[in-house]
Amino acid sequence: MILVFGASGSIGRRLVELLPADEVVAFARDPAKGAALGCRYVVGDLDDPVSVASALVGVERVFLNAGGAVPAPGEQPMVRQQRAVIDAAVAAGVAHVVKLSVWHAAADGLLAEGAHWEVEEHLRSSGLGWSVLRPSGFMQNFVTGGGTFTENGHLLGAYGDARVSYVDCADIAAAAAVLLTGDPRPGSTFVLTGPEALTQAEIAARLSVVAGREIRYVDLPAVEFAKRLVALGVPEAFAGDVATLFADVAGGRLEGTTPDLAGLIGRPARTFDEFLAAEADAVRQVWADEVHTFE
Ligand SMILES: NC(=O)c1ccc[n+]([C@@H]2O[C@H](COP(=O)([O-])OP(=O)(O)OC[C@H]3O[C@@H](n4cnc5c(N)ncnc54)[C@H](OP(=O)(O)O)[C@@H]3O)[C@@H](O)[C@H]2O)c1
Repeated sequence: MILVFGASGSIGRRLVELLPADEVVAFARDPAKGAALGCRYVVGDLDDPVSVASALVGVERVFLNAGGAVPAPGEQPMVRQQRAVIDAAVAAGVAHVVKLSVWHAAADGLLAEGAHWEVEEHLRSSGLGWSVLRPSGFMQNFVTGGGTFTENGHLLGAYGDARVSYVDCADIAAAAAVLLTGDPRPGSTFVLTGPEALTQAEIAARLSVVAGREIRYVDLPAVEFAKRLVALGVPEAFAGDVATLFADVAGGRLEGTTPDLAGLIGRPARTFDEFLAAEADAVRQVWADEVHTFE
């Protein structure tokens, strides 16, 4: 059996569709979301060790994803939760864990980069078989609200003219499916990028075509961006770390592309235009109006 954590998320819900129906079990904290997945599921919460342990009974391979860095001081819940899943997987006799991490995960990394590194290290020393997927920024950020927007419907960011090799979550799911159903490539780390790197202005131009109205890219210095976050109630230390990461991206940190994804899935990774074509309805829904809010 293959257990998928984060099954209702951007990657997870695409992944469960790719796995053999008689082998996949989704872990969902919301029964309605579990039922909507169209596959076998168990209800549980990463903060409920009993539900995690019982979900892992008889499981051979695990997809480990859920949550990201949150603007709270102290310990990141994701680190605590994912470390606990790894410990429970050892106890349950799981053979292999495919962990969804982030590009540039590192011991001294800020926010998600440091948090994912901590989980990666725990996994590497667990004795389990492991493989790690480190994706670049998600194309889906531009439809889920993980992107950043001005109040008047234009694309807001702090990356200047820097390029980012955004990757489609459908491709990340496809890569995970390969490792979960075939050779799991134990001890391997894959940096997953799209096939091209685009500027935010180029992305705004592409969004404009699908939305049917002009969307401009509005660039803010990273420190100004951080001030906006603080004004929205985000703690200053967290906003400062976000500003530092944004400045790194503006310096070209996510510009590179790698062959890892195409090598895993046996076809080229999706371009941004292919993503827009596949998600045109969602893109129109988010971007058609001049004014919109998220969450
Ligand atoms: N966005 C980017 O550009 C980017 C780039 C690289 C890496 N990443 C990493 O990608 C990860 C996010 O992936 P994603 O987009 O698939 O996530 P997502 O769409 O935000 O989904 C998160 C999933 O985790 C589940 N979850 C959260 N807390 C849970 C809990 N306590 N118990 C059980 N399930 C829980 C959610 O369930 P519910 O539906 O019930 O909430 C959901 O299924 C993060 O770790 C982030 O660091 C993101």
